[in-house]
Amino acid sequence: MYFRPGTHKEVGLSFNPIKAIISPRPIGWISSRGEDGSVNLAPYSYFNAISEQPPMVIFSSAPHSNSSHKDSIRNVIETKEFVVNIVSSALGNAMNITSGNLPYGESEFAAANLEMADCKTVSVPRVATSPAALECKLWKVVELPKPDNANAGIMVIGTITGIYIDDKIIKDGKVDVTAFQPLARLGYMDYAQITKVFSMKRPDVK
Ligand SMILES: Cc1cc2nc3c(=O)[nH]c(=O)nc-3n(C[C@H](O)[C@H](O)[C@H](O)COP(=O)(O)O)c2cc1C
Repeated sequence: MYFRPGTHKEVGLSFNPIKAIISPRPIGWISSRGEDGSVNLAPYSYFNAISEQPPMVIFSSAPHSNSSHKDSIRNVIETKEFVVNIVSSALGNAMNITSGNLPYGESEFAAANLEMADCKTVSVPRVATSPAALECKLWKVVELPKPDNANAGIMVIGTITGIYIDDKIIKDGKVDVTAFQPLARLGYMDYAQITKVFSMKRPDVK
């Protein structure tokens, strides 16, 4: 099978398979604050680390159906800060609730019954029960190319300024992902849990 983007139905695929091919993807559970002080929380799986030095991450919003930005994007543009909360398997349902399209200013923390905790380098709260959280300052907002007759997607690039890790997930000086089993996004409505880990040494080429 071979096809060009947007023509999957012509080859018999009912749904666009790109997200299933590029999987698993980590979920950036983004908390942010608007100029009016309101707090927002939403999952973004177009999310990843892009650099170690300086430590930087991106997340990106699909083109919104109306002309306004998604709330997370609006807030980051307004206050230039955000937090990436890590989604453990135990927090999967709560994460899913926060993907609901609540009116601007209505808190997904309250909707999902999640407690907030203060951060140290940003005024945005983190999810208190997330096993780890990355405090970020906005570096750049990039408008992606506009699809025909639609709004542009927006990519946010941020620099990590503070890192919270729950001491309970540290084992022998390392983060033990099996202790919280991060949730990953696959295609369609599917998810995966990381439950088993193995190591591979890199080749020692002289
Ligand atoms: C696991 C998961 C991952 C998602 N990833 C994205 C994403 O990468 N980009 C996006 O625009 N929407 C994504 N969504 C949908 C948003 O979470 C949803 O549109 C949400 O209402 C946006 O919230 P906001 O307007 O408060 O920012 C995702 C939803 C789920 C459940």
